[in-house]
Amino acid sequence: MAAEQAFDGYRLTDELQAIREAVREVCAAKVAPHAAEADETGEFPKASFDALRAADFHAPHIPVEYGGAGADALATAIVIEEVARACASSSLIPAVNKLGTMPLILAGSAALRRKYLTPVAAGDAMFSYCLSEPEAGSDAAAMTTRAVRDGDDWVLNGVKRWITNAGVSEFYTVFAVTDPTARSRGISAFVVEKSDPGVSFGAPEKKLGIKGSPTREVYLDGVRVPADRMIGAEGTGFATAMQTLDHTRVTIAAQAVGIAQGALDHAKGYVQERRQFGKPIADFQGIQFMLADMGMKLEAARQLTYAAAGRSERGDADLTYFGAAAKCFASDAAMEITTDAVQLLGGYGYTRDYPVERMMRDAKITQIYEGTNQVQRIVMARQLLKG
Ligand code: CAA
Repeated sequence: MAAEQAFDGYRLTDELQAIREAVREVCAAKVAPHAAEADETGEFPKASFDALRAADFHAPHIPVEYGGAGADALATAIVIEEVARACASSSLIPAVNKLGTMPLILAGSAALRRKYLTPVAAGDAMFSYCLSEPEAGSDAAAMTTRAVRDGDDWVLNGVKRWITNAGVSEFYTVFAVTDPTARSRGISAFVVEKSDPGVSFGAPEKKLGIKGSPTREVYLDGVRVPADRMIGAEGTGFATAMQTLDHTRVTIAAQAVGIAQGALDHAKGYVQERRQFGKPIADFQGIQFMLADMGMKLEAARQLTYAAAGRSERGDADLTYFGAAAKCFASDAAMEITTDAVQLLGGYGYTRDYPVERMMRDAKITQIYEGTNQVQRIVMARQLLKG
C-alpha cells in the first residue's frame, strides 16, 4: 500500500470533527446562556442538563448495549471539552457520569451494569463517585468508611467529602473498608442509591468556582445494601478506584482544555475590539506574544489529552502515565491561560461583566480534583522509575 494511502494523517476524523461542531452548536444556544447564572446563584444548571440530555451528550460514554451513545474515550473527551468551553459546571455532567460509572464498566457484574447504566444512559439518573473523606484526600487508601457484612447485606457507615454532584445524583459508587487490616487491599466498592435509608447530604460547599455543580458531603449512616451491589470482588475496590481515575483524569484534562479555549476565544475577540493609543491592542507585540503563548500551550495540552484518550480507549499499559500527565499539564496550562485572559481584558477582565474571571476560577479546580497535580507527579514519577 502506498505510504500516502496508509497514513490517514495525524488529525481528528471527520466524525470527531462533526461531534465537536454538534456539541458546540448545542452549547452556544442552550448551555452558554446559563453559565453566568449558574456561577452567580450556585444552582445546578437544570436547563443545561436538559439540553445535554436531549442531544445525548449527558453521558456519551455509556455503551450502546445499555442504551447509551457509545462514544469512545476521545469522542467523550471532545464532548466534555466543548461543554467546558461554554460552562465548566455543566461539563461535570458528562465527566462525573463517566467517573461514577467507570467502576461498573471496569469491574461490575453484567446484572449490575444493566441495572445502573441504563437509567444513566437515558438521562433519568446521574452517578457520583465517593472516594475522598475528611482525613483521606491524596492518601485515598487511608479511608475509614466501613462496610460490614451482615447476612446477605453489607452495612455501610462513614462520611465521604468533596463529592461532585452529590444530591443531584441518584447513584453513588462508594469505596469502603471491608478489611481494616489490609489497607488498600481491604477496600471494596459498592453502588449506593440516594434513596437507600441512611443516606444524607451535607450543606453545599461554598467554592471558588464550578459553582453550578454541587459539592457536598455524603453521610452513610447504617446504609444496608444487598451483597450483589458490590462492584467486583471483595478487596479490589482500591485498584478499581485507581483504574477509574486513570481513565477519567483524561476527562479532567479535556475539561481544562475546554475552559482554556473559552478564555482564549474571548480574549482574542476582546483585544481586536479594544482600542488604546489609537489602535486595537491586538496590534501591540506584547499582546501578540501573550496570545501566541496561550495558543501554543493550549494546543500542546490538547494533543497530550487526545493522546491519553487514545490510550484510555485501547486500555494501553501506559495509560496511568498518560492520564496523569494530561491532567497535570492541561490543568496547569488552563490556569495560566485563563489568568492571562483576565490580564488581557485588564480591569474588565476582573469583573463579572465578562466571563474570563469565572473561567479563571473554574480552571483552578482542575489542578486539584481527581488527584492534585502533586499526586499526578507522584504517579508519573513512579511510572517512569518502574522498569
Ligand atoms: N491501576 C491499578 N492498580 C493500581 C493503580 C492503578 N493505576 N495504582 C495503584 N494501584 C494498586 C497498586 O498496584 C497496589 O496494589 P497491590 O497492593 O496489590 O500491589 C495498590 O493499588 C496500592 O497502590 P500504592 O501503594 O501505589 O498506593 P498509595 O497508597 O501509595 O497511593 C496514590 C497512591 C497515587 C497517591 C493514590 O492514593 C492516589 O491516586 N491519590 C489521589 C486520590 C485522588 O485522585 N482522589 C480523587 C478523588 S475523586 C475526585 O476528585 C472527583 C471529583 O470531584 C470530580
